[in-house]
Amino acid sequence: MNSPSAIDLRSDTVTRPTPEMRAAMAAAEVGDDQYGEDPTTNLLQARIAGLLGKPAAIWLPSGTMANQVALCVLTRPGDEVLVSRECHAGWHESGGSAANAGVQLVEIGARGVFSTEEVEAAIKPRSLPVFPPTTLLEIENTHNRSGGIVFPQDAVKRICALARERGLATFLDGARLWNASVASGLSEGELAAPFDMVAVAFSKGLGAPGGSALAGSHELIAAATRKRRMFGGAMRQNGIFAAAALYGLEHHRARLAEDHRNAKHLAEMLAGCPAVKLDRNSVQTNIIVFHLAPGAVDAATLVAQAKARGVLVGAFGPRIVRAVTHLDVTAAQVEQAGAVLRELLR
Ligand SMILES: Cc1ncc(COP(=O)(O)O)c(C=O)c1O
Repeated sequence: MNSPSAIDLRSDTVTRPTPEMRAAMAAAEVGDDQYGEDPTTNLLQARIAGLLGKPAAIWLPSGTMANQVALCVLTRPGDEVLVSRECHAGWHESGGSAANAGVQLVEIGARGVFSTEEVEAAIKPRSLPVFPPTTLLEIENTHNRSGGIVFPQDAVKRICALARERGLATFLDGARLWNASVASGLSEGELAAPFDMVAVAFSKGLGAPGGSALAGSHELIAAATRKRRMFGGAMRQNGIFAAAALYGLEHHRARLAEDHRNAKHLAEMLAGCPAVKLDRNSVQTNIIVFHLAPGAVDAATLVAQAKARGVLVGAFGPRIVRAVTHLDVTAAQVEQAGAVLRELLR
C-alpha cells in the first residue's frame, strides 16, 4: 500500500471520496435500478441528459464499459472505426474493442487530434466488398495519452459534419469532458452537440468512487441499456454511486481550474530540466505527459526513484512519464513533487 503521505500523481482516479461526498452517498435515496426505481440514479441520468443536451442517458459502472457499449451499439462486427492515435479504446481497454464489438480501430492524426482531410483519407470506399465499412468516428476529449489536450471545437464541428455527410456515426469519449469544458470555456452541452453519443466519467476529476454515463437518443440509450445488461453492468441500489456523481457535479466541477493551474505549474518546473522533453503548450488541462531525453534515466527508474521520495507518477512508455493533478493534491504538494522530480532529473 502507498504511504498516505505520498503525493499521488499517477492518475485523477486515485481520489478518495471526501467526507461530504460520503455523507451524500450515505443519505442517498435508493431503489432497484433494474426496475428503473432508483430515484437518485434517475435524477443523475436526467441531469446528464440535460447537461449534454441529449434526450436520454444511462449510468454505467466504468468508462471502459461506456466505451465498449457505445462501440457495440454504434457499429456491427467487421466494421471499421476511425479514432485518434493512442486513444483509450485502443490502448487501455485490453483489446475489448475487437473482442466485444468485433471492430477494427484505425488510428489517425497525431497527438490526440486529426483533421477533416485525415478523416476523408481514412474512410474506406463503399464501392468494393473487399473493404471493411467505415461506420463510426470517435473523438477523445480531453485526450489522455496525449497529455489531456482539448480537441479544438471548430475542428470537432467540421469533422462531425463530414462524418455525418459520409454516413458515419459519431462518438465522443468525454471521460474528461468536464476538464475540456473548464479549459475551453464552452459548456459540456456545446462540446457534446456534434455527436450522436457521448460518454462522461464521474470517477476522474469529479472525485466519485466510480461510474460513467452514456447520453444519446432514446433509441441508442435503449440499445445501450440492453448491452449494459449483457456485460453484467446493470446495478441494483445504484443511488449510492449516483449520489457521489451528483455531489461531484455540483461541488467539484468548477474547481478543476485549480487542477489545471497546478498542472501548468508542474509543467513549467519540469520543462526547465534538460533531461525532460515537454511542450508546455500541450499542457492544457490536468495531465502532463513528458519524454525523457536521451542519456537521462528511463521511465521505470524515475518512477521508482520518485516513489522512494514519496512522489508517485506513472510510466507511460519506456521513456514516457505521466503525472496527473486532481482533487487530492494541493498546490503545495505539486510544488514539492516538482522539486523532487527536478532533483532526480538534474
Ligand atoms: C479517455 C478515457 N476514456 C475512458 C476511460 C476509462 O475509464 P475507467 O477507468 O472508468 O474504465 C479512461 C480512464 O482513464 C480515459 O482516460
